[in-house]
Amino acid sequence: MVTKIGHRGAMGYAPENTLKSFKKALELNVDAIELDVYICKSGELVVIHDDKVNRTTNGKGYVAEKTFKELRALDAGEKEKIPELKEVFDLVNKKVNINIELKATGTAKPVYELIELYIKEKSWKYEHFLISSYNHYELREFNRLSPNIKIGALLTGIPIGFAEFAEKINASSVNLCADFINKEFIDDAHNRGLKVYVETVNDLDDIGRMKALGVDGIFSNFPDRL
Ligand code: G3P
Ligand code: CA
Repeated sequence: MVTKIGHRGAMGYAPENTLKSFKKALELNVDAIELDVYICKSGELVVIHDDKVNRTTNGKGYVAEKTFKELRALDAGEKEKIPELKEVFDLVNKKVNINIELKATGTAKPVYELIELYIKEKSWKYEHFLISSYNHYELREFNRLSPNIKIGALLTGIPIGFAEFAEKINASSVNLCADFINKEFIDDAHNRGLKVYVETVNDLDDIGRMKALGVDGIFSNFPDRL
């Protein structure tokens, strides 16, 4: 069985990275939801994919240059709001795991602090979380702060040495773009004790191909297809 991961919630059915999208993913019986995190000007951790609000909201400008109040006034689609990370934690409430993608430099520490708070005060477990990033320095920093929480190294392409880089930063998984996946990479990662999660796979034929290749998890905009 592959791990079913709802990409940005269930963005095939609801506006990406909104509470509506995460609720939909829960309804579709995912094993985990995936989301993207930035820090805004007033310091809150906010859930949005791009560094600008332009594509996913009715506003314009950089997330890092807007206060939470300004971000909250925007429509993120179907009258949804840009959520704070802690609102998603409260919605999910330990029902499924959460894959937090660190998008901005400097997100490792505040994300770690929020997770620690939920572990200490709300009985969450380290196992509820997977932290991923294309910025492997940010991932290494997160692992230094919290070696108990799994990290997933995001990757677009096949590097020389296959999954060696991921082993070096104590990753538990490589989260690889589907365009590049091959059996050699999967075998190498498995031999190193690493899981392989593949993103983002929506087409039924492609989902079947990924399963046949032996991946451990799949990110999809339509997680009910997994
Ligand atoms: O974590 C998998 C995937 O979300 C990474 O790509 O662009 O959707 O953030 P992207
Ligand atoms: Ca992402």
